[in-house]
Amino acid sequence: MTAIIFIHPDGKSERVETSDGESAMQAATRHGLNGILAECGGNAMCATCHVYVDPSWLARLPDMGDDEDALLDGTATERLPNSRLSCQIHVTSALDGIVLKLPERQF
Ligand code: FES
Repeated sequence: MTAIIFIHPDGKSERVETSDGESAMQAATRHGLNGILAECGGNAMCATCHVYVDPSWLARLPDMGDDEDALLDGTATERLPNSRLSCQIHVTSALDGIVLKLPERQF
């Protein structure tokens, strides 16, 4: 199992266990985590699964695709250099312990 650490806007952290192949968004929604809406179900069409990747983990993620890049321009909270869509972060054991900060709001 691989762990993802989500940090809520109030600083509270929540550990979610997942497995290879699942996206960070799927892991979050399967655990009922507040703060990830994922209205499009992971099809890179809604940007309501926005997260801020802890900078120390950013280089370990694959480059984002054009669709993700375009959607991140329409997030409800400010896009930052470490913004990603959690539905596009596919978990591998190399990401065990990744820290993803949740934005204040998703819409
Ligand atoms: S769930 Fe819609 S863009 Fe990620």
